Amino acid sequence: MKPIPVLQLTRVHLPALRRHFLALPPDDLRLRFGRILSEAALLAYVDAIDFGRDAVFGVVDEDLELLGVAHLGVLGEAAEFGVSVLPGHRGRGIGSALFERCATYARTHGIARLFMHCLAENQSIMRIARRAGMDVVLQAGEAEGQLELSPSDPATVVGQWMSDRLALFDYALKSQWVAARRMTEAVADAAGIRKRAD
Ligand SMILES: CC(C)(COP(=O)(O)OP(=O)(O)OC[C@H]1O[C@@H](n2cnc3c(N)ncnc32)[C@H](O)[C@@H]1OP(=O)(O)O)[C@@H](O)C(=O)NCCC(=O)NCCS
Repeated sequence: MKPIPVLQLTRVHLPALRRHFLALPPDDLRLRFGRILSEAALLAYVDAIDFGRDAVFGVVDEDLELLGVAHLGVLGEAAEFGVSVLPGHRGRGIGSALFERCATYARTHGIARLFMHCLAENQSIMRIARRAGMDVVLQAGEAEGQLELSPSDPATVVGQWMSDRLALFDYALKSQWVAARRMTEAVADAAGIRKRAD
């Protein structure tokens, strides 16, 4: 399978993050957050993300819209993983790529344990988690996953550095494409206006 560029997000991506979460259907919000959040609660969640403490990763499409987002909430030596992929883009490895990137981030930042909370019906995330070696315990309709992480080695650090460069390069190319397209559209609009005025 082709590698999926996974970009670390910053506050610059807040508008795209808001659009991503607002595009999730109610049932996906229930699977992601354990309950259906109102629009106001979703926006408050996004605005409260602490980019200095936590890490947020995304996979973007050709228009720089976020197809998938992972939020790694850092709590000392442990971190909680949460992820969402837009419905039309599932089953292509985006969720797994985000999980792997979060696990590598955690290893290179001295985090010893990754955990995840989900509903027991959520087969897709449990499949990703178990494949990554996570212990998943089911109880009363809910599931708790935990993964002990080995400390990073030089190969992990270099691998992370390379995949970050790849993701930045991919984002830069897509940004140029979006800018070029907007300029073409603006020129075409201006030409149309002039033609109508003549
Ligand atoms: C969970 C989620 C992030 C997975 O994203 P994705 O991009 O489809 O993930 P991947 O393509 O990497 O892998 C999905 C895996 O689930 C499997 N899967 C999908 N539907 C399944 C089902 N009903 N039963 C069992 N496995 C299923 C796929 O076969 C795949 O496994 P494989 O690679 O071994 O074939 C996505 O479904 C989602 O956003 N769900 C709503 C939010 C959510 O549940 N978040 C997780 C809680 S934190």
